[in-house]
Amino acid sequence: MSTRQLSVRRDPGYAGLTSAVTGLPSAWYFDAAHYARELERIWYRNWIYACRAADLATARSFRTLAVGDQSVLLVRGEDGVARAFHNTCRHRGAALCRQSEGRLPAAGIVCPYHAWRYSLKGELLQTSSKVHGDGFELRDYPLYALPVTEWNGFLFVALSANPPPFSASFDLPLGRFDDWHLGELVVGHRLEKTIRCNWKVFWENYNECLHCPSVHPRLAQLVPIFGRALLERRDDPAWQDHAHDEDPRYGGGLRAGAESWSMDGKPAGVPFPDVSAADRKAGHLYMTSVPSVFIVAHIDYVRVVRLLPLGPELTAMSIEFLFLPETLGSAAHDIMNAVEFTDIVMSEDASICELNQQGLHARAHTAGVLMPEEYAIRQFQDWVRAELARP
Ligand code: FES
Ligand SMILES: [Fe+2]
Repeated sequence: MSTRQLSVRRDPGYAGLTSAVTGLPSAWYFDAAHYARELERIWYRNWIYACRAADLATARSFRTLAVGDQSVLLVRGEDGVARAFHNTCRHRGAALCRQSEGRLPAAGIVCPYHAWRYSLKGELLQTSSKVHGDGFELRDYPLYALPVTEWNGFLFVALSANPPPFSASFDLPLGRFDDWHLGELVVGHRLEKTIRCNWKVFWENYNECLHCPSVHPRLAQLVPIFGRALLERRDDPAWQDHAHDEDPRYGGGLRAGAESWSMDGKPAGVPFPDVSAADRKAGHLYMTSVPSVFIVAHIDYVRVVRLLPLGPELTAMSIEFLFLPETLGSAAHDIMNAVEFTDIVMSEDASICELNQQGLHARAHTAGVLMPEEYAIRQFQDWVRAELARP
């Protein structure tokens, strides 16, 4: 062991990586064949966040969702149940619904090609043929049903008949957000962005704060530990020097005087009444379900960021801002205080992700290297590898 290595100090409990780790192959971020493999193995096997349950407000409301080259049709039945199907007719495979959202006619789901008609439960009710050939039975041709989970007002779908257990797709216990009563919140604002990067570039950026001081000057002021390029106290190899220091530069949380992630640090919505003192002090709580969504809870609003892959180097991002219903009618609250702040931070991330994507094409750059602060990227990359290897 060299003298230099002996002199390295890492306190017990240090969260960072202790050796240099090679990243994923660069080609995995732009190669079309690899992208197709990730769609199959990752996007078509895991739970994907589709929309809020309230977006399918009444019976016969529908939405379509493009995931890779698949189109999912979500429909609310007369029985109030939300169901999902491949947006494909069982006759000769025409797409059933062309719009991204709307309300189906009383007749149900009618194919625009030869008018096969299905119930909202996906049963084939009628064809347009004069007679049916021998052996043809309506019951043999229902729509291709897909699993749906409704959780706290969020609708998730899976393009596989056997997705993993829903709770296992989150990195925290599902009950961790109970104090926010997510099911009762309403969407006050939406932002949409198309980012010219591979979906993994976005998640890698999400998983580190090494970029925070240079990319997010405003956020780095609001959350002082981010200004030190760290996510948590134990990301500092010498964290024990400040083990009990509650200064937000060491302990995390918001700068003095700030209560939420907003332009002026003030709440943009009516604060949630049941959030614990510890969670209020922390200022943010993240929960992640790769590959499609993360949820961030603040004291006054919840941000839901959904990603969908549009191509090897193109990703769609949508951001929903959830508030207590009383916030939206209140003249005393300006939700744009939160929306503008998020827009700044997410635009900074989107731009830097696009820059990352561009550089990945260098013929000499076969893979990157992960630095100690990037331990969560390593977990993400290990997950990608494991998913690709899963039979
Ligand atoms: S393809 Fe749908 S009715 Fe023919
Ligand atoms: Fe960022």
